[in-house]
Amino acid sequence: MEDKETQSIRTFPEGFLWGAGSSAFQVEGGIENTDWFEAGRAGLVPPQGLACDHYRRYEEDFDIAKSLSHNASRISIEWARIEPEEGKFNENEIAHYRDVLRALRARGLEPVVTLWHFSLPLWFSSRGGFLHKNAPEVFARYCEFVVSRLGGEAEFWNPINEPEIFANNGYVRGIWPPFFKHRIFTALSVGRALARAHILAYKKMRAQNAQIKIGVNKDNIFYEANWNPLNKLGKVFINWMWNYWFLDATKGSYDFIGLNHYFHVKLGMSKREWADAPRNDMGWELHPDSLYQTLVGLKPYGVPVYVTENGIPDKTDTKRAQFIRDALSQVARAIKVGVDIRGYFYWSLTDNYELAQGFTQRFGLIEINYETLERTVRPSARMYAEICKNNAL
Ligand code: BGC
Repeated sequence: MEDKETQSIRTFPEGFLWGAGSSAFQVEGGIENTDWFEAGRAGLVPPQGLACDHYRRYEEDFDIAKSLSHNASRISIEWARIEPEEGKFNENEIAHYRDVLRALRARGLEPVVTLWHFSLPLWFSSRGGFLHKNAPEVFARYCEFVVSRLGGEAEFWNPINEPEIFANNGYVRGIWPPFFKHRIFTALSVGRALARAHILAYKKMRAQNAQIKIGVNKDNIFYEANWNPLNKLGKVFINWMWNYWFLDATKGSYDFIGLNHYFHVKLGMSKREWADAPRNDMGWELHPDSLYQTLVGLKPYGVPVYVTENGIPDKTDTKRAQFIRDALSQVARAIKVGVDIRGYFYWSLTDNYELAQGFTQRFGLIEINYETLERTVRPSARMYAEICKNNAL
C-alpha cells in the first residue's frame, strides 16, 4: 500500500499543462527556403520533403491530441515562411498560423509557441546567420512582428529553442548547418549573439503585448564525474557553461524556463557502467533521475518551469510507456522539493524528421506511415492519456 504522502505527490498541481511537442521544420513539410532544406538538397542531411504534411493535416493531428486528453501543445512557427525575404513579411502565412493557433484553442489545447526551432531562412543563413552583425536585431524584429499579429492567440512564447544545441551541432560537432567543426570560439560568439537576440526579442515582444509569457528553452544535461579531480573540475565548468550560462546571461528577460531534457553525462564513466546502462534506439542512456536533477538545478532561477521536451526514440513502443511514467515520477519528486513545475510536454506528438537522422527515429506518441501519411496512435500514448486525464500518476 502506498502511504498518503506518496499518493499526494503523484497528483499534479491544478492547471498543470499536459501535452506533446513538435517543431515546424520537423513536421510541416515543404519548407524549401531554409538552410536545412538546402542541406537536404545537397545531401548533407537527409531530405525533408513533405515530412508529416502537418502543414495541411494539423487539424487531424490536434484532433488526436485532444482525444488523448492533452490540454496543451507545443508547436513552432517557421521564420522562413513568415519572412521569406529580409524585411518582407507574408501575411498569408500569418493567417495560416492564426488558423493553427485557433485550431488548438478550439480543442482546449493551450499553445506554447517557439519562434525559431533550428531552421533558418536562407537569406539569413547565407550571410552568416547569427554571426552577422545585425542578426540579433533582425531576429528580434521577426519575433516582434509575429507577436504584433498573433500575440492574442497564445499565452506562452519562446523566441529560441536550445541555443547550446544549435551552437554545438552547427559549429563544434559539424553535423547540422552550417557544418563547421571544432570552431569552439565561433560557437561561443554564436552563443553570445543568441543571448543578445533573446534579450532584444524579449523587449520587443513585451512592448507589443504585456500579457504574454516569454520563456527560454534550455536543453539541460545532468553532469556527473567519477573520482578523478580533473573530471570533477571539468564537470563544474561544463555544467555551468552548458546548463546555466545562457540563463545567467539573459536573466530578467524571461518569465519561465522551458526545460528540454534528454541526457546524462558522467565524465570518466567506466566501460562497465557504459555497457550496463539501459539505452534507447539512438543509444542515449535511460537515466530517469537526471530529469529530477536538471529540474532541481533550475530552482534558484525563481521562475516557473515547464518540461517542454522529454522523449524517447522507440520504434517498437516497448519502452515508451515506462519512460513516461519514470519521467513523471521524477517531475513529481522535483515538485515535492519545491520546484515550481507547471507542465510536461512529451517529445513528440507524432514521429517526425529527426534532423541529422532524418525519418529513421520514432519519437512519436503517434506513428506516421511515411508512405501513406496515415496516423496510428501508439499504445504508450493511451497510457499517457490516462495520466493527462487524471492529472495524476
Ligand atoms: C530538439 C528536437 C529534437 C529532439 C530529439 C531536441 O534537442 O529540440 O528538435 O527532435 O531534441 O533529438
